[in-house]
Amino acid sequence: MSSWLKSAVFYEIYPNSFMDTNGDGYGDFKGITSKLDYVKSLGCNAIWLNPHYDSPFMDGGYDVRDYFKVSPRFGTEEDFDEFIRSAHAKGIKVILDLVPGHTSEQHPDFLKSAENVPNEMYDRFIWTNGEWIFPEGFKAISGRHNRKGNYIVNFYSTQPSLNYGFARVDDPSWQMSADSDAAKKTREWLKGVMRFWLDRGADGFRVDMADSLVKNDGDQSEKKATSAIWREIRTMLDNEYPEAVLVSEWSNPQAIRAGFHADFMLDHHGNPYNLLVRGEEEKDTYSYFDADGRGDAGVIKDKFNEWYNAVKDNGHIAIISCNHDTPRLAPFYNHDQLKIIYTTLFTLPGVPFLYYGDEIGMKYQKGIPSVECGFARTGSRTPMQWDDTKNAGFSSADRPFLKADVDKNINVAAQQRDKKSLLNFVKELFAFRKAHREFVEKDFEFMHAVGSEPLVYKRGKLVVVVNPLKVKSSAPVELPQKAECVFSAGKPAKVKKTGIDCPPLSATVFSI
Ligand code: NOJ
Ligand code: CA
Repeated sequence: MSSWLKSAVFYEIYPNSFMDTNGDGYGDFKGITSKLDYVKSLGCNAIWLNPHYDSPFMDGGYDVRDYFKVSPRFGTEEDFDEFIRSAHAKGIKVILDLVPGHTSEQHPDFLKSAENVPNEMYDRFIWTNGEWIFPEGFKAISGRHNRKGNYIVNFYSTQPSLNYGFARVDDPSWQMSADSDAAKKTREWLKGVMRFWLDRGADGFRVDMADSLVKNDGDQSEKKATSAIWREIRTMLDNEYPEAVLVSEWSNPQAIRAGFHADFMLDHHGNPYNLLVRGEEEKDTYSYFDADGRGDAGVIKDKFNEWYNAVKDNGHIAIISCNHDTPRLAPFYNHDQLKIIYTTLFTLPGVPFLYYGDEIGMKYQKGIPSVECGFARTGSRTPMQWDDTKNAGFSSADRPFLKADVDKNINVAAQQRDKKSLLNFVKELFAFRKAHREFVEKDFEFMHAVGSEPLVYKRGKLVVVVNPLKVKSSAPVELPQKAECVFSAGKPAKVKKTGIDCPPLSATVFSI
């Protein structure tokens, strides 16, 4: 079982947007390689790279045309290998994005399966057995190929579902079981893809829509047949690549039971991450960090405990600042708020995933035109802001693939110069985290979680106290008088005989 994951701090890089070295307006491998020292300077020791494969980019690269080839947009095969080599030389692990459930509609195997005579790829994808069949509960695409049937897709119409079979076969005329030969072949193909990149130096995978493989497989907390596949794959890793890690996009403790080392707690309605930092007024839920105090730590405590207890013996929760599918937290929160939010997210028990640019408070760009079917997500994918020159230092192109937000404060160069910047704060936070084993151990307990009162939790001998409000507040928690503040965002809280007094917008860590 991999030994490095528990002390990993990840940085998510969306390759299109990070650094362009050849002036074509797209980020590239050479650009990432040139910024590895920067990534390291943050205190991150691992990278999650969004899809880097050959793709027509009809969904930001989550539509893979060739699983064994890098996208020429990002550079050559050698540029990729050089990126992995340099990262490793600097002590940075790299996990790649694995898209196991669907290919691009331009994948040669799919095109082969779409021919109107049976062939070796006929059952690699899921096709109905007639052009007028539109099964309920599935997205079926018709009229695009001459095969007499419609194909099922996982997400967009450009992403045909690979055939891992059906857990419950309703119509045997076109649905195969999860242990059919065709389904087994798809599984073996997937293992081949994984071995290829692990042999090439990858340290593991973030797995896209990990729960989507087998159809009719129950809800997210069930997925028996899909789980069986991942357990088989986990066994393969344990035997052949024991240090490799699997991080799932599943967002349910079932992922850990299925063999994943870590699973993202995503921004889904009502889960602890969502209730902590998002909240959805239209659905009548408020973020705990709502500075007007409409959040509720009590609910978060119960839900987080339930989730954490279900995973802690066998895996980790992957905790994000944000990701390429979610609006960034800025500008909805200011930098003082972001400091206390990051302190909270990254001192809770979990593996931190910082999304590129969140360390400088890059803003979600509301309403910008969609690129490569990002739609609203495009606003979280704009170029990294390195400085305040042309295209924020991202590219010399006249028109990069997405317009950069040139801002004289929200850029790396400016924040490196400013001791009090968000960037320097993030570095201090990760350095503090690294210096204290408590944060990677499993010892965790909420001490106070009531409404919008300060949230207090314990990690071994450390106690974290967070006040999300614009006004001072206090928590009725008695800490030993000798408790010493070892880290703070905002002014530190004070231990009193009857409780803890917290300044407005503050997060304090005490050593007891
Ligand atoms: C989840 C990915 O994060 C998202 O960007 C993508 O569009 C879908 N899966 C489909 O692959
Ligand atoms: Ca480029």
